[in-house]
Amino acid sequence: MSSRTPLIAGNWKMHKTGFQAVEAASQLKRLVEDAADVQVMLAPAFSALFQVAQALKGSNVAVGAQNLHWEKQGAFTGEVSSEMLVEAGCTHVIIGHSERRLFFGETDASVNRKIQAALSAGLIPVFCIGETEAQREAGETFSVLDKQVRDGLKDFVFDDLSGIVVAYEPVWAIGTGKTASREQAQEAHQFIRSLLDTLFGKPFASAVRILYGGSVKPDNVRALMEMPDVDGALVGGASLDPETFSKLVFFNN
Ligand code: 13P
Repeated sequence: MSSRTPLIAGNWKMHKTGFQAVEAASQLKRLVEDAADVQVMLAPAFSALFQVAQALKGSNVAVGAQNLHWEKQGAFTGEVSSEMLVEAGCTHVIIGHSERRLFFGETDASVNRKIQAALSAGLIPVFCIGETEAQREAGETFSVLDKQVRDGLKDFVFDDLSGIVVAYEPVWAIGTGKTASREQAQEAHQFIRSLLDTLFGKPFASAVRILYGGSVKPDNVRALMEMPDVDGALVGGASLDPETFSKLVFFNN
């Protein structure tokens, strides 16, 4: 396991209404109140952010959004700005999730602008990258990750990026029950960290947290977390039930 403080983050995707989200978040808050040496973050849908943030006030569970727009305001129907997220109580924002890339036309260039917007507003970006199954089978995993990292973080310098979290989520492992083996996860994380070292230097690369995402469950989390470059998890399905999610938070017990 790494010396970086692990982050266990739940991405609720398009699940739970406001009431359902508050109920689950309040339950999680009680379940993880004694968690030590680990950070916890929940990313509910936009419509539930404010209520969930209120319910989690004063707890050790942070709130994140699942997306944002890069502009501060304007005629962008259906979009939400960084300032709106901050006011709703967010400290984190997931950016570039593969579902946004796949279904909503997110590109490395838009990801780059969104990271910039998040950082300017003091939000911690959780920057998602990962290859598809076809890309892995074609032996393109590292070149895909290389491009996503270089283009997503283009024109940033080390100082800008402090606090940013990277999430490696192989697309073939998301919601499929097919987890990457811990060796596959470690290999990808090590590649990403060494690329970050090349781009931004060692102090940044050794401090940045790289989460693994893709079918993380209570029965595989510990093995993944034991790998030296795995600093946490970004969890979809297994984050929806507070009991199950709390088992991930206590991965070390
Ligand atoms: P699952 O944990 O459901 O595979 O989803 C992973 C994910 O996409 C988290 O962002």
